[in-house]
Amino acid sequence: MACSYLCPCSLLICSLLAFLVSGSPIQRALLPVISFDEGYTQLFGDDNLAIHRDGKTVHLSLDERTGSGFASQDLYLHGYFSASIKLPADYTAGVVVAFYMSNGDIFETNHDEIDFEFLGNIRGKDWRIQTNIYGNGSTSVGREERYSLWFDPSDDFHQYSILWTDSQITFYVDNVPIREFKRTESMGGDFPSKPMSLYATIWDGSGWATNGGKYRVNYKYAPYVTEFSDLVLHGCAVDPIEQFPKCDNTESSEAIPTGVTTVQRIKMESFRAKFMTYSYCYDRVRYKVPPSECVINPKEADRLKSFDPVTFGGGRRHHGKRHHRSRAGHVEAISI
Ligand SMILES: *[C@@H]1O[C@H](CO)[C@@H](O)[C@H](O)[C@H]1NC(C)=O
Repeated sequence: MACSYLCPCSLLICSLLAFLVSGSPIQRALLPVISFDEGYTQLFGDDNLAIHRDGKTVHLSLDERTGSGFASQDLYLHGYFSASIKLPADYTAGVVVAFYMSNGDIFETNHDEIDFEFLGNIRGKDWRIQTNIYGNGSTSVGREERYSLWFDPSDDFHQYSILWTDSQITFYVDNVPIREFKRTESMGGDFPSKPMSLYATIWDGSGWATNGGKYRVNYKYAPYVTEFSDLVLHGCAVDPIEQFPKCDNTESSEAIPTGVTTVQRIKMESFRAKFMTYSYCYDRVRYKVPPSECVINPKEADRLKSFDPVTFGGGRRHHGKRHHRSRAGHVEAISI
């Protein structure tokens, strides 16, 4: 991590911040990682999905023909879901890599969704990462946030994780919580509350991803390859309709977070103050009145004004990544 990124101030504060942001090393060995065949199933992309010899690392690629993706075999109600991801390098404008939870194939009009999305880049520019949440079909209210990162996510694997409980959702990059989304009463059904599967996909988001579609996918640079490893599904698998638990026990591990600690909260605030570039809460074009859970901080509002707001072009909704499994088991790509 480049210290100068974080803090142009004294060395002492600088190294303290460096420690706070980078956190303790990832305890990968303690995480309950299962092989691809045990926990996942290919969604689309035929041989653009390849499983590494270790059975635990998956290569997903995008070329002129198709993207690719996989999903967990089971649906989960709450839990901790994680992957180490290495993104495609160099020119990746328009390329979208998504790591997310959804139940859109079962609940077509009132689905839930929790997203990590990587929105391509133009050579020389940082990757942008986006998080978003939908509950019970609340697709008219996007709750996107976007961030830059303190490292180049195409250089190496980094861990991206979602902790989902019935009262909050926390997004982590490595061990740093970057967003905490708390359930409120006024949110109603907008908080994800039905079982979801975990998905990983790479797809052509030309019309949307990079600066609102300004930069399209250039297949001269294909194939675009992303790698997923150390996949963690730590939750109770449930039947999506009956919501009947199918697991005997979910062994706990110290490597699984249960929420944001005081020390982590300082890291989170430091991350958000430095790296957040967009929050729906401050988007007056989309929301004359911010959604009820938003707590407006004038300093944050001021800072966010300096970033390019075009990516959403007034709140256009994207559907490109919705590669749903139909009940017959074959893959349907739904694009609008
Ligand atoms: C979710 O949506 C369904 C169908 O639109 C509705 O019947 C139900 O009341 C909603 N649930 C919540 C918690 O809002």
